[in-house]
Amino acid sequence: MENKMESSFDFFDENYINLDEHKIILVTGGAGFIGSNFIRYLTSKYPNFKVINFDKLTYAGNLNNLITIEDNVNYVFFKGDVTNPKDVKTAFEQFSPDYVVHFAAESHVDKSIINPDIFLQTNVLGTQILLNYSREHKVEKFVQISTDEVYGSISNDLNVNEDAHLKPNNPYSASKAAADLLLRVAYQTYGQRINIIRSCNNFGHYQFPEKLVPVIIHNALNNLEIPVFGDGNNIREWIHVEDHCRAIDVIMQKGKSGETYNVGTGNKWKNIDLVELILKKLNVSNNLISYVLDRQGHDIRYSVDCNKIRQELGWKPQIEFEEGLDQVIIWYTNHMDWIEEISSGKYMNYYDDIYKPRMMETE
Ligand code: NAD
Ligand code: TYD
Repeated sequence: MENKMESSFDFFDENYINLDEHKIILVTGGAGFIGSNFIRYLTSKYPNFKVINFDKLTYAGNLNNLITIEDNVNYVFFKGDVTNPKDVKTAFEQFSPDYVVHFAAESHVDKSIINPDIFLQTNVLGTQILLNYSREHKVEKFVQISTDEVYGSISNDLNVNEDAHLKPNNPYSASKAAADLLLRVAYQTYGQRINIIRSCNNFGHYQFPEKLVPVIIHNALNNLEIPVFGDGNNIREWIHVEDHCRAIDVIMQKGKSGETYNVGTGNKWKNIDLVELILKKLNVSNNLISYVLDRQGHDIRYSVDCNKIRQELGWKPQIEFEEGLDQVIIWYTNHMDWIEEISSGKYMNYYDDIYKPRMMETE
């Protein structure tokens, strides 16, 4: 396999490392795309931290994403559902976390339009249950992984800062906005220490092939049509997941409690231009592009102002977009087996294969 960090980028910033501290971090949704990148980041950067991965393993949760660190002494997996108070209670009693970093969510906009209910349950109720136990257990800081999508569609000449109104336009972004408001309540009413992080669209290793970048790469490599919604002129701002992980780390440790931080790069692309860029890099013809029916309520443009995190916490993105994209394309090209496993659904047996025999041994 690859080296431990699975990255050619050196994204450690010595300014905010405190290697001697022994902190227990409960990461929810750590088997998903951003969560698993964050756990790899934490376990290698802070050997003295203990990282608990609390995940239900939905279709989007894949323990194979963490195979390179699963035997690390500072890593533990706990199978649990954030909407189930019993699971959350057990985890808090067992591990007494210092920090909670909450990624667990239903995260796919198109799925939310078809079936909003599970989005409200997981993204809203699940957040409240975690906040309840965080309060009871006097957690030092609860970090909510929110999204720039809570601001809704942003007109062409604007970047939104953290004070902008929340104007979500689809069930996913509405559920994330609702969770952000619950964080506000936790801070204002109960005095809990919290941060909210609103990042732009992530790309990187281990992204589930339902999101735009892996869909393009996977379909291009398999000579399949690439579905572009509507006219392809919708604009998204892109960040490499490892830059997002560094932002979460600095906010978790240095962010002022009660504050929200946007995380962005200014690197914005029309969807169609991004599709064509990736096809060019892969030397695949644009003939594969297929314009399809638009997403309902499709936000035209996202664009965040991230001066606050830059000025207050000194964070800035370190990975140049095309360099990062090249690296991600190579990663997917070398990990076709990972995508095949997902397409076949085989990865969903991983938990049973790995954990069931161990459990039976202790019964
Ligand atoms: P993902 O869909 O890849 O992973 C979600 C993870 O949450 C999975 O491991 C899944 O098993 C787990 N999960 C779902 N329901 C659960 C439950 N009830 N209990 C416990 N675990 C559960 O998502 P992602 O793209 O890694 O996004 C992670 C977070 O970051 C989400 O909160 C999302 O809103 C936010 N975010 C994502 C992006 C992006 O571009 N992907 C951008 C900004 C913010
Ligand atoms: P997506 O990756 O689903 O992220 P989000 O909707 O949360 O921004 O989609 C990114 C953009 O790409 C969005 O404008 C929808 C568009 N899109 C397509 O055109 N085709 C696709 O197959 C996918 C998955 C997305």
